[in-house]
Amino acid sequence: MMRKLLRRDTLSNEQLDFFGLERQPFQLSPNPDFLYLSPSHEECLQRIRLTLELRNGLFVGVGDSGTGKTTICNLLLNEFSSDKDMIVGMLHHPWAPSPYAFYHMLCDEIGAPAGGPKSTIARRTALFQFIQNQVLQENKSLVLIVDESQQLTPKQIEIVRGLLNLETAEAKLIQMIIFGQMEFLNSISGKRFKNFRQRVAMSYVLTPLSLADTGAMINFRLKKAGYKGKNIFTKEAVDELYRSSSGLPRAITKFCHVAMLIAFFQQEKVIDKDVAVQAVQSTPLKGVDENE
Ligand SMILES: Nc1ncnc2c1ncn2[C@@H]1O[C@H](COP(=O)(O)OP(=O)(O)O)[C@@H](O)[C@H]1O
Ligand SMILES: [Mg+2]
Repeated sequence: MMRKLLRRDTLSNEQLDFFGLERQPFQLSPNPDFLYLSPSHEECLQRIRLTLELRNGLFVGVGDSGTGKTTICNLLLNEFSSDKDMIVGMLHHPWAPSPYAFYHMLCDEIGAPAGGPKSTIARRTALFQFIQNQVLQENKSLVLIVDESQQLTPKQIEIVRGLLNLETAEAKLIQMIIFGQMEFLNSISGKRFKNFRQRVAMSYVLTPLSLADTGAMINFRLKKAGYKGKNIFTKEAVDELYRSSSGLPRAITKFCHVAMLIAFFQQEKVIDKDVAVQAVQSTPLKGVDENE
């Protein structure tokens, strides 16, 4: 019974009311509204903005699974999409079975018209022409965001580098923000990618949260969900969640959600160390490390 209850991935309306919440505080979706800007997330965003401002080509961000990469990508995507001077495309899963399919995907994402012969060269030409036209004639800024870049094959990394060759005397025509798991650094470590590495204007490694940021992130998410009262999680509970999650935002989020379910079940409005320990012990580990 208890086990089944703890598997629910949302709080019921009754549970939300019990805690004084308007929305789900600890959902696992990469929703940028719930992104707490830790010093690491803040620094990462600053470097991205600087890369774009300087029109410097390429930013590469890496981090372990669950550190907030996809959430940052979504934040940027939302922000850029609402700017009418920008054209933004995002590859959530950049894997494609062939160079043709990869160019096709790029055209699709950026909005380059498809048509003409179904060949790799035709797609490539269409993409390059569209980029040149949008930037040089229409005066748009073009940004491509790539998530899960560890999926890129060597050939695809070269295609991406090819896009960065498009430039005027002052600036690159397309700016790129690439995020991936740590192993992406291995993918670009060989001699073959020296050129690619030289084009990285800025990079950043997202780190897990500190103890203080773990508490701050929990309170931030509760507040975003409409909570107005005193801290729900005691200091000891936060300590426990921090140690058990190693500061990984995805694990913290997951543990907190289960802690809320347990607290409701016990009709307690405060989550102390005891509830936190129970939450950690009853959270199925499957999913904590996964990309969801
Ligand atoms: N800085 C943060 N503040 C609040 N929640 C975060 C933060 N970073 C990550 N999360 C949460 O952790 C989960 C995993 O984030 P995600 O962006 O998918 O990580 P990654 O793409 O690095 O695997 C999501 O539920 C997200 O809301
Ligand atoms: Mg991700």
